[in-house]
Amino acid sequence: MKNIDSTSHVTGKSIYLDDIPILQGTLYGAVLDSPIGHGEVVAIDYSEALAMDGVAYILTHEDIPGENQIGGIIPDEELFAEKEVHFQGQPIALILAESEHIAFEARKLVKMKFTEKEVITDPREARAKGRLIIPPRTFSLGNTAAAWAQCAHIFEGTAQTNGQEHLYIETQGAYAVPMENGHIRLSSSTQGPTQVQRTAARVLGVGMHRIEVDVVRLGGGFGGKEDQATPWGVMAALGAFVLNQPIKVVLHRLDDMRMTGKRHPYSSDYKIGLSEELKIIAYEATFHQNAGASADLSPAVMERTLFHATNSYFVPNVEVTAYSCKTNLPPNTAFRGFGGPQGMFVIEAALAHAARELGVEKCILQKKNLLKNGDSFPYGQIADGVGLSQIWEDLEAKFDLKAVEARVQEFNAQHEDRKKGFSLMPVTFGISFTKTPMNQARALVHIYSDGSVGVSTGAVEMGQGVNTKMLQIAAQMFSLNPSRVKLESTNTTRVANTSPSAASATSDLNGKALQKACQALQERLKNCAARHWGVTSADISLKEERIWVKGKATDMSWDQLVDMAFLARIALTENGHYATPIIHFDKTIEKGHPFAYHVFGLALTEVTLDCIRGTYEFDSVKIVHDFGKSMNTAVDTGQIEGGLVQGIGWMTMEELSYDQAGKLRSNSLSTYKIPDIYAVPGEILIEAFETEGTEMAILKSKAVGEPPLMYGMGAFFAIESALRAFNPDFESTYDAPFTPEKVLMGLYQSSQP
Ligand code: MTE
Ligand code: HPA
Ligand code: MOS
Repeated sequence: MKNIDSTSHVTGKSIYLDDIPILQGTLYGAVLDSPIGHGEVVAIDYSEALAMDGVAYILTHEDIPGENQIGGIIPDEELFAEKEVHFQGQPIALILAESEHIAFEARKLVKMKFTEKEVITDPREARAKGRLIIPPRTFSLGNTAAAWAQCAHIFEGTAQTNGQEHLYIETQGAYAVPMENGHIRLSSSTQGPTQVQRTAARVLGVGMHRIEVDVVRLGGGFGGKEDQATPWGVMAALGAFVLNQPIKVVLHRLDDMRMTGKRHPYSSDYKIGLSEELKIIAYEATFHQNAGASADLSPAVMERTLFHATNSYFVPNVEVTAYSCKTNLPPNTAFRGFGGPQGMFVIEAALAHAARELGVEKCILQKKNLLKNGDSFPYGQIADGVGLSQIWEDLEAKFDLKAVEARVQEFNAQHEDRKKGFSLMPVTFGISFTKTPMNQARALVHIYSDGSVGVSTGAVEMGQGVNTKMLQIAAQMFSLNPSRVKLESTNTTRVANTSPSAASATSDLNGKALQKACQALQERLKNCAARHWGVTSADISLKEERIWVKGKATDMSWDQLVDMAFLARIALTENGHYATPIIHFDKTIEKGHPFAYHVFGLALTEVTLDCIRGTYEFDSVKIVHDFGKSMNTAVDTGQIEGGLVQGIGWMTMEELSYDQAGKLRSNSLSTYKIPDIYAVPGEILIEAFETEGTEMAILKSKAVGEPPLMYGMGAFFAIESALRAFNPDFESTYDAPFTPEKVLMGLYQSSQP
């Protein structure tokens, strides 16, 4: 089945926040933000802005009836800064005017005075000064201290990954409408409707029941709207509450880039020890996460870095420690992979370093150390359903790895000013929110008396195709034509207490809740039919909108059965609840079984370097991916292609840059480059790894949202391999992204320091 939104997307008819019809009396908001990285507010003069024609009001912390607090995990973030500002771009006030233009013009008239304080942008400096979001955490297995003595080879170094701008096409925004009795109806471009509802209630000082959050779809989230859609939603709700007028807040692209957090940059240290046979004996790493000025989701992101620190390898002795470092940057947040990629990059760098020193191909080290069934992850979960070695062999066979190696060697022998390189990038990614209680979901199903069906779940459609998958489930459960099923907007009054659509787990959690609701309705209808035909419900089946008895089609249609059930006063509405079984995690010992299952895969990346200019093109990326049994290959293939290209962007051209004062320099699309059609690999081939799938995944179709991003990390190591073909003295500092500028420096770097 093709994506149910495809026609309305390409004809421009899909509805996003900005397409919601505007009510009379709506005011538009422009967010006033801190122009400095750290300091105390001395005075803010709004008088000129307020005097401007068309300006209605300026909302500040003084207007907040409840708490001036929006922190999700830790209450350390104000909605509007009161006395102190902690990053450039921190919201101070919301200017409300009759038009967006007036609001933005009025913003220029506000005069602000601060006493400036020390600005820290570097996570290691923050750690040295004791500025941590939470105490450090360590995951360990075996005993690294004792293991170093057994190692034939030990390598140490550092690795850095930079942040990444989400660059969802639809910027952050919300539209709040006051209803009667102080209730607010809030449309928000958020991955977490409940988080927006809960926070708005807290700031307004009212119960959650007074705030209704509705989401039709997002023009992309990528994690950037898991927590950071909240402030704009809350500001709009606050304005509607205070002024009793509809309030619309949509961030201008440049405001969005400046004010919102991004993927966390990390600066890390590693030490890896190998045996004579090139088995990894021990691995230590210290991760410095640049959290920004408040916690946001940083503690959870940091945790996933530790979970994925050994990527797809078995290491018997591991000690990995992570620090969440508080700096004066916008609070960094969820981004596809959620800290996992940052952890994986460091062990991939360590292996590349070891391979270089040992004079072997990196893929030989990788292949020798792949995780197997029965191996323990450092966090105690025992690996099962692992197909890494088989995936590796599949890739070697399907994409003829030997021929690729030969082709690259031959090309390099023949060309002076162009060099080819390749890399292999295995991925092992855990599926489930790492915080166990978040792994629950609900779905509400109505069968209307004419036989058509309405489905509400907690899932937010952000382009990943979850609504298509939900519709498939309902249609399949009732054996209905998909056109008889409608996916409703995501709404907190229909489905409450939702987890954000995140962690790649949205289809699993909401799909299984939906299955349960449909199952209960199906049973009820079958019982009704069984009574009618004088058989047992086991004799009844639903097929092609018709009722079958003992395997034979009857003349009773689905619509007739529904009508009969309605007249018999049988409930045609059901709520399903699902909570992932098995999973648990004990933070006091950092052990448990946090993931329902893992997703595995392997990417082969080939690149051609222009050794005069430092530029490069990716010839191909060939992937063997573990879909389980994909329930929608079009949607899932799209997720792999998109994730891959987003990962390549992070590793190559997306260069986030802040100056020492905490000012974002890469603050527009002319200074921050993301992959375009020319940057996409010449060829992307995706092969399914044939498995049985797992019952923990919806219809055995494994989660696919985040894992493919990590295939993009192969780009970095492919470039390194091509670069070394030109300059064998090149020693990488493992500092991603590998921009053409860095490549050029590397091409002509000499071995002398
Ligand atoms: N795909 C599109 N088109 N747009 C998005 O915003 N977000 C990604 C991924 N794929 C995203 C996307 C992220 S960060 C996650 S966690 C998952 O989708 C969330 O959806 P899922 O749980 O249904 O996979
Ligand atoms: N992934 C994504 N989002 C999350 C997680 C996670 O593991 N935990 C909390 N929010
Ligand atoms: Mo995705 S980073 O879990 O929204």
